[in-house]
Amino acid sequence: MKLSGYFLPTLKEHPAEAQIVSHRLMLRAGMIRQASAGIYSWLPLGFRVLKKIEQIVREEQDAAGAQELLMPTIQSADLWRESGRYEDYGKEMLRITDRHDRDMLYGPTNEELITAIFRDSVRSYRELPRLLYHIQWKFRDEVRPRFGVMRGREFLMKDSYSFDIDYDGARRAYNRMFVAYLRTFARMGLKAIPMRADTGPIGGDLSHEFIILAETGESEVFCHRDFLSFDPLGEDVDYDADLQPVFDKWTGLYAATDEMHDAAEAARLGDALVSARGIEVGHIFYFGTKYSKAMNAVVAGPSGEEIPVEMGSYGIGVSRLVGGIIEASHDESGIIWPDSVAPFDVGLINLRAGDAECDTACNDLYGKLRAAGLDVLYDDRDERAGAKFASMDLIGLPWQLIVGPRGIKSGVVELKRRATGERDELSVDAALGWLTGGG
Ligand SMILES: Nc1ncnc2c1ncn2[C@@H]1O[C@H](COP(=O)(O)OP(=O)(O)O)[C@@H](O)[C@H]1O
Ligand SMILES: [Mg+2]
Repeated sequence: MKLSGYFLPTLKEHPAEAQIVSHRLMLRAGMIRQASAGIYSWLPLGFRVLKKIEQIVREEQDAAGAQELLMPTIQSADLWRESGRYEDYGKEMLRITDRHDRDMLYGPTNEELITAIFRDSVRSYRELPRLLYHIQWKFRDEVRPRFGVMRGREFLMKDSYSFDIDYDGARRAYNRMFVAYLRTFARMGLKAIPMRADTGPIGGDLSHEFIILAETGESEVFCHRDFLSFDPLGEDVDYDADLQPVFDKWTGLYAATDEMHDAAEAARLGDALVSARGIEVGHIFYFGTKYSKAMNAVVAGPSGEEIPVEMGSYGIGVSRLVGGIIEASHDESGIIWPDSVAPFDVGLINLRAGDAECDTACNDLYGKLRAAGLDVLYDDRDERAGAKFASMDLIGLPWQLIVGPRGIKSGVVELKRRATGERDELSVDAALGWLTGGG
């Protein structure tokens, strides 16, 4: 992509409405614009990051054996009357009436709809287990939408749902998702800690929130200090194996959200207790037969008896993660994207656009990097060097490849790693080799 033709409306000034750094940087880097309170448009740069995050979530769900489908955003109120949540949900639910005076709503979550799909299609215990997910926009009419995409009213969520014949099966599904979440967040460069959590309006009796620690986090959390030095989950997980040991390892130390905090238990940790602010990036629930009983989602068991299925649901805040990653990874100059979610891999900076040698070298590099499969944002604008460096630092691409008139005369370019600020002068070929992984 050539920057001269790219829709990237960056801001020089700090936007007054943004209270936290991720919101400020997303506005300044031209990633989002507010459409109305808690509702955002995703501009090209932000949309790229959103899609990268979504894809990591998808790959890890698929690896864990979940199957993707897509349910609509608009749902019928009748299903929610069956579960009893139509009244319970209160003002957070955006209620809509269609032209035939039917009560509809913009889905805040999908337990009811997926349970209805299940009950209409699955008859026998032999068809279990099932693990289904979708990645779809949700709407919750939050009292206080704030912090940009972190607490929006419209937001993108990945939500999975498990169906099993008994408790043991449901726990296996829970463990699969638990492990998939550890891997998902690790791939995004995040240290997410699973913490005992309250089940809230979803209901049920086993629940964990995945929390990243950040000063700007909305909730108060408590955990054992050792979590901070836990290694991320390694490459290969056999999802057919018993995952209980992994679950036990990650839940063996104290970690709880505010609502589940046990001061007496925590006090026993002494100096090892960390109390911090956290951002909830994922939340998993086992709730047994709460919805299957209310909505009559039963299957025939081995001797023909009707058994209500055991269920769980598992959410990841896909759009919130964009802000969460920035909270975890930025400096005073701007965003520092982890490689895995960066909107482009390389920012190619032409320090003198219009200079024949610089233009030729840049065009050549641009072509070769792209041919090697890299996403390149080429700053070909006729701008001061300082402005180019500042906007590249602001949007936070992992690598900057800098081509200037003096260097290129002797075949030399500069390569900068955004995360460390380290700059190296090297030959054009060496830079290409480095970026394309050829050494
Ligand atoms: N208003 C919101 N804006 C952005 N993301 C949200 C919002 N509400 C929830 N999420 C994300 O969706 C995930 C699943 O939501 P859930 O746990 O059902 O909601 P809540 O914790 O608000 O009751 C959360 O872990 C969070 O990452
Ligand atoms: Mg939650």
